[in-house]
Amino acid sequence: MPLEQLLARLAPGSPEEALARQIDFGRLPAHVALIMDGNGRWAAMRHLPRVEGHRAGIDAVRETVETSARLGVGVLTLYAFSVENWKRPRSEVSTLMQLLKQYVRLEIGTLVDNNIRFRVIGRPEGLAPDVREELAEATARTADKTGMLFNIALNYSGRAEIVDAVRQAIAAGLAPSDLDEGRFSEFLYTAGQPDPDLLIRTSGEMRVSNFLLWQIAYSEIWVTDTLWPDFRCRHLLEAIVAYQKRDRRYGGIGPTRALAAQPR
Ligand code: IPE
Ligand code: IPE
Ligand code: MG
Repeated sequence: MPLEQLLARLAPGSPEEALARQIDFGRLPAHVALIMDGNGRWAAMRHLPRVEGHRAGIDAVRETVETSARLGVGVLTLYAFSVENWKRPRSEVSTLMQLLKQYVRLEIGTLVDNNIRFRVIGRPEGLAPDVREELAEATARTADKTGMLFNIALNYSGRAEIVDAVRQAIAAGLAPSDLDEGRFSEFLYTAGQPDPDLLIRTSGEMRVSNFLLWQIAYSEIWVTDTLWPDFRCRHLLEAIVAYQKRDRRYGGIGPTRALAAQPR
């Protein structure tokens, strides 16, 4: 079903169609996390102000969200604004926040139609009241949706998330001996969600920039040189095809080697 759903949207004979046919829908990543990077460079290459890169990035967000939902990915997390991004010029930050509001307002109907549940992870208290209001409305309007969960990481920091989780665990009265990795993860912003199987980063940077530090312990990382505003369905399909070829070992020897190691 997801293949037909996807193919209905893809041009016959296109590279996207060929990629879609390579995907094993029984082994999709349950959670895809994505560091959207390279908007500023995209704009600079065109002699445009940086904010034009952010504006152009909205089409990539739209296509990524819709393709992921159509594929049948369970959770998609997009890194949109880090705690460290406040270091940028005020005008860039305020345009980014306005674009975010616009995106949410314009897309809410599509999210509802596609049965997508929208959630924000990060420290919302650091965001302006008008932005928080827009986000709260989108969260409330999609709260009963049962399809893909779409997390947007805003005013997010992986280290801050861990500190917040520790604070919450203490506030809940947990004794040190009560705490293990499973209990701890229930205090994270992503409580109840699977860890990302696949972490994508655009624009070629080989770093995680304080994103989901706890959750990506065993994520498969896929980096593309494509700048975020140029990221399309094809790139997401490429990432998933590459992910499905990985041998995930989790510190063990993996199924292929385990088979070879069996006594005959
Ligand atoms: C990603 O693009 C968007 C955000 C971090 C908000 P950048 O703005 O970081 O673009 P580059 O990395 O400077 O090209
Ligand atoms: C990571 O991109 C943060 C987001 C995508 C929101 P940055 O552009 O902020 O990361 P660095 O500064 O290159 O590490
Ligand atoms: Mg960047």
